[in-house]
Amino acid sequence: MAKTFPRSWLLAASALAGAVYAQPSPGVQQRIDQAIKDAGNNTGQLDYTAFVNPFIGTGAVTYGDVCPGASIPFGMAKITADFTGYAPAGYITDETQYCHGLSPLHDSGTGSSLGTYGNFEILPLLCPGGFDSCTTSLLARQIMRKNNTDDAYPGYFALTLANDIRMEATSTRRAGLERFTFPRGSTPYFVLDLANDLPASFAGGTMNIDPDQGRITIGGQWGSRCFNFGPSEYHYQAFACYDLLNGGNQTLAEYGMWTADTYGLDAKAKGVTSLNQSLNLIGGIYQSGALFSYANNPTEVTIRVGVSFVSSEQACANAESEVGGASFEQVVAASSALWQEKLSKIEIDVANTPANVTEMFYSSLYRSFLTPNNATDETQGVFANTTSFYFDSLYCSWDTFRTFYPLLSLTSPVEFAQIVDNYVDGWRKNGWMPECRANNLPGWTQGGSSADNIVSHFAMAYHNEAAALGIDLTDLYAAMKADGEDNPLEWNTEGRQVNVYQEYGYVPFAVFDPSSTGRQTREGSRTLEYAFEDFAIRQVALLLNNSADAATYENRSLFYRNVWDANVTSDGFTGFAQKRHMNGSFAYTDPIDCSEQDTNTSRACSLQANNENGFYESSSWEYSWYAPHDTAHLVEAMGGNATFVKRLEHFFNAGYYLAGNEPSFQTPVGYHYANKPTMSVDRVRDVVFTNFDITPDGIPGNDDQAAMASVLTWHLLGLYPVPSTSQILILSPFIPSYTIHNSYLNTSTTVTVEGYDANSVQQVIPAGAAAYVQKVTVNGVPTASRCHFDFYDTFRIGGNITISVTSNKTLVNDCAGPVPESISTGGFAVPRSIPLIA
Ligand SMILES: *[C@@H]1O[C@H](CO)[C@@H](O)[C@H](O)[C@H]1NC(C)=O
Ligand SMILES: *[C@@H]1O[C@H](CO)[C@@H](O)[C@H](O)[C@H]1NC(C)=O
Ligand SMILES: *[C@@H]1O[C@H](CO)[C@@H](O)[C@H](O)[C@H]1NC(C)=O
Ligand SMILES: *[C@@H]1O[C@H](CO)[C@@H](O)[C@H](O)[C@H]1NC(C)=O
Ligand SMILES: *[C@@H]1O[C@H](CO)[C@@H](O)[C@H](O)[C@H]1NC(C)=O
Ligand SMILES: *[C@@H]1O[C@H](CO)[C@@H](O)[C@H](O)[C@H]1NC(C)=O
Ligand SMILES: *[C@@H]1O[C@H](CO)[C@@H](O)[C@H](O)[C@H]1NC(C)=O
Ligand SMILES: *[C@@H]1O[C@H](CO)[C@@H](O)[C@H](O)[C@H]1NC(C)=O
Ligand SMILES: *[C@@H]1O[C@H](CO)[C@@H](O)[C@H](O)[C@H]1NC(C)=O
Ligand SMILES: *[C@@H]1O[C@H](CO)[C@@H](O)[C@H](O)[C@H]1NC(C)=O
Ligand SMILES: *[C@@H]1O[C@H](CO)[C@@H](O)[C@H](O)[C@H]1NC(C)=O
Ligand SMILES: *[C@@H]1O[C@H](CO)[C@@H](O)[C@H](O)[C@H]1NC(C)=O
Repeated sequence: MAKTFPRSWLLAASALAGAVYAQPSPGVQQRIDQAIKDAGNNTGQLDYTAFVNPFIGTGAVTYGDVCPGASIPFGMAKITADFTGYAPAGYITDETQYCHGLSPLHDSGTGSSLGTYGNFEILPLLCPGGFDSCTTSLLARQIMRKNNTDDAYPGYFALTLANDIRMEATSTRRAGLERFTFPRGSTPYFVLDLANDLPASFAGGTMNIDPDQGRITIGGQWGSRCFNFGPSEYHYQAFACYDLLNGGNQTLAEYGMWTADTYGLDAKAKGVTSLNQSLNLIGGIYQSGALFSYANNPTEVTIRVGVSFVSSEQACANAESEVGGASFEQVVAASSALWQEKLSKIEIDVANTPANVTEMFYSSLYRSFLTPNNATDETQGVFANTTSFYFDSLYCSWDTFRTFYPLLSLTSPVEFAQIVDNYVDGWRKNGWMPECRANNLPGWTQGGSSADNIVSHFAMAYHNEAAALGIDLTDLYAAMKADGEDNPLEWNTEGRQVNVYQEYGYVPFAVFDPSSTGRQTREGSRTLEYAFEDFAIRQVALLLNNSADAATYENRSLFYRNVWDANVTSDGFTGFAQKRHMNGSFAYTDPIDCSEQDTNTSRACSLQANNENGFYESSSWEYSWYAPHDTAHLVEAMGGNATFVKRLEHFFNAGYYLAGNEPSFQTPVGYHYANKPTMSVDRVRDVVFTNFDITPDGIPGNDDQAAMASVLTWHLLGLYPVPSTSQILILSPFIPSYTIHNSYLNTSTTVTVEGYDANSVQQVIPAGAAAYVQKVTVNGVPTASRCHFDFYDTFRIGGNITISVTSNKTLVNDCAGPVPESISTGGFAVPRSIPLIA
């Protein structure tokens, strides 16, 4: 999902660009700068976690919606503070917002309007007037933080409230420790929420205090409002277990319960130990929870929290098994070690890389391992008792298939296989693979069944190892076939509207569909995405030697041509994707509509029922580039190589490109397909330096479960993937040398840029700075083209790749061999199995 708030907000927000926040603490950047400097002299193993800035993407100008909370890789628990205002991940750097508490469940990068999770908030309080004076309701307790104090690094999060209480957190997969430091001499009080979550979607729950054990258990249901990016009918369950005594070293003084609303209810009951409010039909205004204090005025209080989606007993068991009696420092160290293991999968030459690039790189790699959230053994609903791995926050597949999963495929087949297992299990349990799961509930589909491209990419990269990795390719293929053939009764959350797509060869606008319902919008972009999803199925059919299916799906993968209106002209360029009626005539949309240059800023461009332009969160200018498996045909349809290049230049110069929108991801490398690779190199430098940096607004939109993080990672590596294939485009790395480790294949591949010039690493490559690819060798053998190579010939084998660069653009402005593959020119004929270069 690219953006759900009105475009007028975006425009207003961009007026604030360059905002300087009082958060995070300047110490965060100083610490990273120092670590990068020190690394230059360090010849031993580097601590890659020290280069990560978790606050990139937490700003209130571009709304990256990143969660900077304490998390392990793919952690289900992500502990951070929750703020007022627009803050879907709980946290936001905007220092004018108020904090409601620290809470253990969050998603990262999801642009849903009201946010997800934020349940079980705890907030330390000073109650000089005693128990009854405590500020427990949301409005009464909200408090600013102290400026310039927020801190975070992988596995650790901290924030100091305006009343000088410091809150720190660290976590395991499903639990964590929270440490609170109070001003000397004060009595520590805490308010703990039963009902509230970020979207105020409480549907009922219970809370119990066991004062002897010092334990509070909470459980309930949330999600009854139109809370998120999905249908409002569904609820999810969640549970928490708070252990208050720190292994017996802390003593409770007072305890009780409270209820409140915004209209005068503010009741407290000391000594009461349970709340049973297991049915709530009125939603947000209802507030309740626990209130307790500690004896002996300790300055430091440590509280252990466990979470579960199954039961409060399991939440307690998770805290016991994952944290047990470990100290705060021990949990931080364990989390840090897990992060180091993930981040060291790609080791770069820090000494010779520009410092900002190092920070952007490891911060992006960090976020690329932050989600989806591993909720294995925490399943509910139809997934209860599943024997498959299970992940929450698949948000959304339309965002992640393009760059996120291809990046995972370079280094992490085991993790990728677990997530694929989870996708295929979605088909087993629901009939279709999931598209946009959050809060363990289905969200809206955007392009169709983008999971097809995720599992297909896995199959293309690892079919030799699939069985050993626990993936049955026959099941994987059956799941894809269900997406491609079985029209759901309602195709808004899973599957596609394939009945009419197959009948007409496109998804017609204003179609009579006798057998299914769904939002009657996005007919142009749904056709384009369905066609690429069919290419994904074609690829796996070929792999399984199912030539009949391969032919059928290859044919359908060309359906994108059926929404090509050769007669539409815009800005002097002819031929655009357009939605189309049942009778075959096109329904005209100005290709500029829903671009950033659209003068009608209130036009509906997303999932709204009145999105009439036919494209999802995009203009026709943007989506008309979209046939990643057959760009050669687009070149022809647009009038040949020269016009294609002119049109790409115009697309960027006129402001139709949107760095923060997934359909735009592949356009900067488009010049490769017209045999002009140096122009892609120039364009990617420009795109990176105008849209990404190391500040809280350093990503150009919602991270979208690390879609932005992963596209930036590819750009910095000087590579770009073609989903559902093993092809990789070659560009100019921003980093002089890096090694990609794949411990499952037991390979390490070092990419060295021969002639690297750090001066070329800026928005406009200066004359004389070497950056343009002249020659590529893999283990000494030159590649057949300097524009692309294959995963099977490179990172799967390991060894040395040399990319030689020159400053002489005219010398090297072609591929010196074939352009990247396309179906219509005989490309992607056979899925790769073995290396061609021995
Ligand atoms: C790195 O080593 C060089 C040469 O020994 C020295 O001048 C420089 O101060 C060192 N830098 C750091 C950050 O220690
Ligand atoms: C932090 O600074 C902002 C101005 O940037 C101010 O509005 C706010 O009151 C300050 N917060 C505190 C707790 O002093
Ligand atoms: C509790 O205090 C004892 C004695 O000071 C100490 O040894 C122990 O580590 C503490 N336990 C925790 C969980 O902090
Ligand atoms: C809450 O009350 C309902 C109705 O009396 C009862 O069914 C349920 O078991 C209670 N829940 C808890 C956790 O006590
Ligand atoms: C999961 O197992 C429990 C306990 O055996 C059973 O009650 C429940 O029906 C099962 N749920 C599903 C979806 O299979
Ligand atoms: C997810 O959690 C399960 C259960 O602890 C574990 O076996 C698996 O390795 C985890 N996967 C990832 C990708 O974190
Ligand atoms: C497909 O055919 C090739 C060539 O005959 C063979 O090597 C491969 O094992 C077959 N794959 C499957 C899944 O049957
Ligand atoms: C394009 O315009 C020509 C001439 O007006 C017309 O014959 C043709 O049918 C149009 N094509 C489409 C696809 O609308
Ligand atoms: C574009 O250029 C490539 C490489 O030179 C060539 O193979 C292809 O035929 C050209 N395409 C068109 C439509 O002219
Ligand atoms: C690094 O990034 C910061 C923040 O965007 C910027 O102010 C600074 O100029 C950049 N430094 C370099 C050397 O590009
Ligand atoms: C890669 O280069 C290193 C260093 O030059 C060398 O030791 C190694 O043998 C090379 N590996 C291959 C597979 O050529
Ligand atoms: C760049 O390469 C072209 C083509 O080979 C050559 O004519 C030109 O002299 C070179 N320019 C420089 C500055 O070396």
